[in-house]
Amino acid sequence: MTIKDCVRTYSQKLKLVTHIPAKEVEMMIGHILDKNVIWLHLNANAEFTQIKELEKLVNKRATNYPMEYLINKASFYGETFLVKEGVLIPRPETELLIDNAIEIFKDKKETINIIEIGTGSGIISVMLALLLKNVKIIAVDINEKALELARENAKKHKVEDKIEFRLSNLYENVPETDIHMTISNPPYIADDYKLPPNVKFEPSNALFGGNIGDELLKDIIKDTNEKEIPYLLCEMGYDQKKPLEDYLKSFEVKEYSFYQDYEKFDRGFTVQFKK
Ligand SMILES: C[S@@+](CC[C@H](N)C(=O)[O-])C[C@H]1O[C@@H](n2cnc3c(N)ncnc32)[C@H](O)[C@@H]1O
Repeated sequence: MTIKDCVRTYSQKLKLVTHIPAKEVEMMIGHILDKNVIWLHLNANAEFTQIKELEKLVNKRATNYPMEYLINKASFYGETFLVKEGVLIPRPETELLIDNAIEIFKDKKETINIIEIGTGSGIISVMLALLLKNVKIIAVDINEKALELARENAKKHKVEDKIEFRLSNLYENVPETDIHMTISNPPYIADDYKLPPNVKFEPSNALFGGNIGDELLKDIIKDTNEKEIPYLLCEMGYDQKKPLEDYLKSFEVKEYSFYQDYEKFDRGFTVQFKK
């Protein structure tokens, strides 16, 4: 069968799980052959022989298994990152956290010390290391597998000298002082929330933040204030603005603002503490 025929035939099987079935089959073929889209289009009439391998991927995808885990790649902020099962897949709305951090530090000449809590695949720390000149980052996670992947991503983007990846539950293994900012996209979904079928394949300790969902966010706010770190930037759930705003008011806060994502859902905040 030619590449073009394979795309036509196998995309039929994916119609119920994605709105871009042909594109996804093309990506799978590209993954199997280790070729990019341009090559696939230029060679659309070439014979494709690895049908069994393709069928395996298509059948797995038909169960709602995420495309990113199948091809071990995801895009974030215009860059390509490695992903693997057991570590959260990057989401586009998390790019807004990067924008907010850059806005605060873009003109700062001195070294900026940053802590990232819950680094996952490392996307946030790697992007900050790429975009900010003088930056030192400590990126923590409770998941060894995530830290291993994050290190690979830092190496892939040649910023491994700017980031130290460390196993830590929140700040537990972070005794450092003189930190300018903490950034985090922590788990913030309520434990009893019914996940959509594709998200069920992602690690629950990256998604669920507690009974209500905002427990970890509140811990991060409290600990960041205690550690006298001036800035805290977090992503949060669309329904958490009110409880988190109320909680923030119990601290000595100089300024705070909430932001919305591309779909106009409340999605996170920036806070500057007084100290
Ligand atoms: C929503 S994911 C975010 C991953 C990545 N930063 C991103 O934006 O794609 C949350 C991450 O926090 C980690 N995590 C969960 N609880 C934690 C804790 N108590 N301390 C540190 N990291 C934690 C999870 O393992 C997961 O990698």
